[in-house]
Order: sequence, then structure tokens, then C-alpha cells
Amino acid sequence: GKVVLAYSGGLDTSVIVPWLRENYGCEVYCFTADVGQGDMETDGLLDKARASGATDLKIADLKEEFVKDFIYPCLRAGAVYERKYLLGTSMARPIIAKAMVDYAKEVGADAVSHGCTGKGNDQVRFELTFFALDPTLNIVAPWREWDIKGREDAIDYAKKHNVPVPVTKKSIYSRDRNLWHLSHEGDILEDPINEPKEDMFVMTTDPTKAPDTPEYIDIEIEKGYPVGFKMVQSGDPMSLDTEKISPATLLAELNKLGGKHGIGRVDMVENRLVGMKSRGVYETPGGTILTLACRELESLTLDRETMQVKDSLALKYAELVYAGRWFDPLRESMDAFMEKVSETTTGTVRLKLFKGSVTVASRLSPFSLYREDISSFEEGSKIYNQADAAGFIRLYGLPMRVRALQQRKAQQ
Ligand code: ARG
Ligand code: SIN
Repeated sequence: GKVVLAYSGGLDTSVIVPWLRENYGCEVYCFTADVGQGDMETDGLLDKARASGATDLKIADLKEEFVKDFIYPCLRAGAVYERKYLLGTSMARPIIAKAMVDYAKEVGADAVSHGCTGKGNDQVRFELTFFALDPTLNIVAPWREWDIKGREDAIDYAKKHNVPVPVTKKSIYSRDRNLWHLSHEGDILEDPINEPKEDMFVMTTDPTKAPDTPEYIDIEIEKGYPVGFKMVQSGDPMSLDTEKISPATLLAELNKLGGKHGIGRVDMVENRLVGMKSRGVYETPGGTILTLACRELESLTLDRETMQVKDSLALKYAELVYAGRWFDPLRESMDAFMEKVSETTTGTVRLKLFKGSVTVASRLSPFSLYREDISSFEEGSKIYNQADAAGFIRLYGLPMRVRALQQRKAQQ
């Protein structure tokens, strides 16, 4: 048979290639997705895969699709897992797995394989996507089967099978990077008492070393999706005409900018789907900027109850994405709600970037529900009559008065 393997060219996946051939007697087709992890040496990758014993390798550039069809829906939904995590790894797994299913069809493979450990979330995300998109595929997860325990075992195995040991320098952390974020887990982070070392960070500058003058940026949003941005000065007029750029380009630019100002670091202990807690540190510079921009725009355009319902659904949405249930009718239905509710999330938000923080400076929307003439402390619109408030408060507070009267009576 043939198997499609999610392949990075690192030590683990290089060892999986001969292991699959030895244990399953199958031809191995390697698949590498470019989701903006950055360090891809695409040039040598085919030779490397062949040297490990692979039949072929496919590299797919998924960057634009990743941002447009996976990241932006989560951004629009306001999906945040356990108060802090912007779901960078969680969103990437379903698009990679989906592309693997397509590749399996292309080469006529009846199995798929990945290098996730048996202790994590990623195995679930890959495999639920395989189930949803081709329930007949066989799945091989070497880490749950073999007795390779660590790096030394893997190097031994590679040598025994005449597979060149990749020279890529292995970080002491378990990292996962894409256009949205970079995650760090493992090593000293495994004890939540340890503060991360400054030299661990990759995408973001130490906020104390960030520029001493703030920068202002206008982010333009259409129906909950970012469409452009512009560097501005405080006090410049707000515009709705930023230059439109592609989602992946926009995010890459914002990552540079946010990174320069030390924005988007998160340190958390999270609950993994498999039940254990794990400590992770995330860098999400562009994503943190965009998340604030969307929220601030919604503060103009959503009424109270709609916002409350959206926020409560966002919790569930995030949980589904974290748990690998991207291709799930519930997430898809919730997305229909998010699309409808974001129809008026259009406008521009001006943000100030300064030493690790991003704060709002201005908001503007043609769909704004904010009415200065109504809200102002100055006498304004006749729509609101202060005298109406007296009756409103009497009726609104009626249950409170009734209860207080009842309590008095009971005390007598
Ligand atoms: N804890 C995060 C998540 O579950 C990040 C996982 C990082 N994955 C990795 N293979 N290093 O989404
Ligand atoms: C892994 O265990 O493969 C990485 C961490 C995770 O999936 O949560």
C-alpha cells in the first residue's frame, strides 16, 4: 500500500519514513504544508525525503487559504481558548490534514500518518479531520506504537537504517510556528514556577527593549475580516480606504510590526483535550493586534444582547477548534451565525502600539450604533427624554421592591 506522511524534514519524521516501510511494508509519500512556519528549506526537502526512503514528496503552499479560511473565521468569532490562547496550532492542524487527504487521493494512498505524540492535542486534530473527510483511510501514529523513546533512540534507529540524521539544529523547546503564532512547550517551561527566559522568544522583542515612541496603525475591517492597514500619526483623519492586501501578507506585516513592539506574548497553563494540564508560552503579535481591532469595532456595531450571545458562542467555538472539531456541523453552523452577526462589523480602528501593549485610540464605522446626540451630557436629540427614565427605573426595579417589601413583612 501507500501512506501519506505529514513530514517536516526534522529528526522525528525522518525516522518515521523507514519505520513505516519496515513495519507496514508500504511506500511513503511525504507531505509538507507551508503555513508560514518560515524555516522551510523547500529546496533540499525532496532529496532529504528520498534519502530517508520516501517515494515522493509534495510541498503545498497553504498560506493564503490558512489565513482566509481558518484564521479569519476564528478571529471573526472572537475565539479564545481558556481566556488566553488564540489557537494558532489548533487552526493549522485541520488545514494540513485536509491537504493530506487530497494528496492521498491524488497518489492512491489508503493510509495517512503523522508524528504527533500520544499525549497531545495534535493527534486528535489530525485524526478527527481524517475521519471527517475520508472515513475509510487507515491512520498510523508511530509515537503510539514504537519503542523509540527520545532523541538518542531516534538517532540510533536512523543510523541502523542508513538514513542521514538531519542536521537541523533541534531546539530544546517543542515549538510550532505558523503565520499566526509560535508556541513554546517543554524543557524548563514544564515547571510552571519557571519564568520563560528572554532568549527563548523568536517573534517578539523584549517589551522593555521595544521602541520608546509609540506607533499608530489603522486597521480596516469588512464584515469581521481585516482587509488592509495603514501606518498613521496620532490625530490624522481616519480613513476607510487603506490599500487592500492579501490576508497572508497583511498578517505577515502585522507580525513584524507587533513583534517590534513586543506585543502578543502569552504564558499559560492550559487543559489539554486528553485530560492533562500543560504549560505553554505563545507569541501572537499580529493576531493580538487584529483581535483587539475586531473587538473594538464590535463595541460600536453590536447591541448589548447580540454581543452577549456572540461572546457566549465564541467560548464554544474556541473549544471546538481546540479539540480538533473543525469539520463538525456544530462549528459550521456557528460560523453561519458569526457571518450574519458580523455583517455590520465594518470600519476602521486606530491602535497604539507601545512596549508590549496594544490599545485602542479611535474607532469609526458606517454602521456605528453610537449616537453622540443621544449619549452626550449636553442636551441633544429629542429621541431620549430624561423624564422617561423615572418610569423605566420603577418598572425595572419592581421585583427588587417587591422582594424588599416581602422581607420586611416576614421580619415583623
Ligand atoms: N498547546 C498548544 C495546542 O494544543 C500548542 C501545541 C503545540 N504543538 C506542537 N506540536 N508543538 O494547540
Ligand atoms: C504533541 O504531543 O505532538 C505536541 C503537543 C500537542 O499536540 O498538544
